[in-house]
Amino acid sequence: MVPSLETEGGLMQTLYDSAIATAIRESGTLFPWIESAHVLMIAIVVGTIAIVDLRLIGFSSHRRGARQLIVDMLPFTWVAFVLAIGTGTLLFLSNATGYYESMPFRFKLLAIFIAGINMAVFHLTAYRKIGEWDDRLPTPRAAKVAGITSLTLWILIVFLGRWIGYSYPLA
Ligand code: HEM
Repeated sequence: MVPSLETEGGLMQTLYDSAIATAIRESGTLFPWIESAHVLMIAIVVGTIAIVDLRLIGFSSHRRGARQLIVDMLPFTWVAFVLAIGTGTLLFLSNATGYYESMPFRFKLLAIFIAGINMAVFHLTAYRKIGEWDDRLPTPRAAKVAGITSLTLWILIVFLGRWIGYSYPLA
């Protein structure tokens, strides 16, 4: 069954009223600490992704093969991404009813989802033939397109993340 707006509103209110959300909202220090951790994780996620994207586009040094660079960066990206989702969820809970109404928040989640699809497409296309271009420049067209799309999306995600703060109704 598709949830109606009314039940979604009820769910957001339940999340808002939860003990953890109330604790974050009412503490003077928890929100800024969690937000700082969120920003730190974002820096690692976007930083490591940008290193790979620039290599895919063909800007950065190709002394290290693309496959090796991806293998070296990915563990940092994934750990930081999981922690970014964890800290982002805690921030969201603290004002679920307000953030739920925020268009930049909705578009940010959508853009993260599209960035995931872009990554999957890259793995199913150019990455499958990486043996042919691993340490060569220029990189293939499919790798360039994946890199440019990813870089654009992650810059947009950071903009949307910062924009959230100016957009939601204050509880
Ligand atoms: C790795 C992916 C993510 C990126 C790049 C990202 C980016 C950002 C940025 C740049 C900010 C502004 C921080 C500041 O100015 O102090 C922010 C804040 C925030 N993010 Fe994320 N975020 C990510 C994942 C998530 C997820 C998955 C959620 C929710 C489930 C989330 C929820 C929030 C919330 C609620 C805020 C606080 C907005 C405010 O009141 O200022 N984020 N994010």
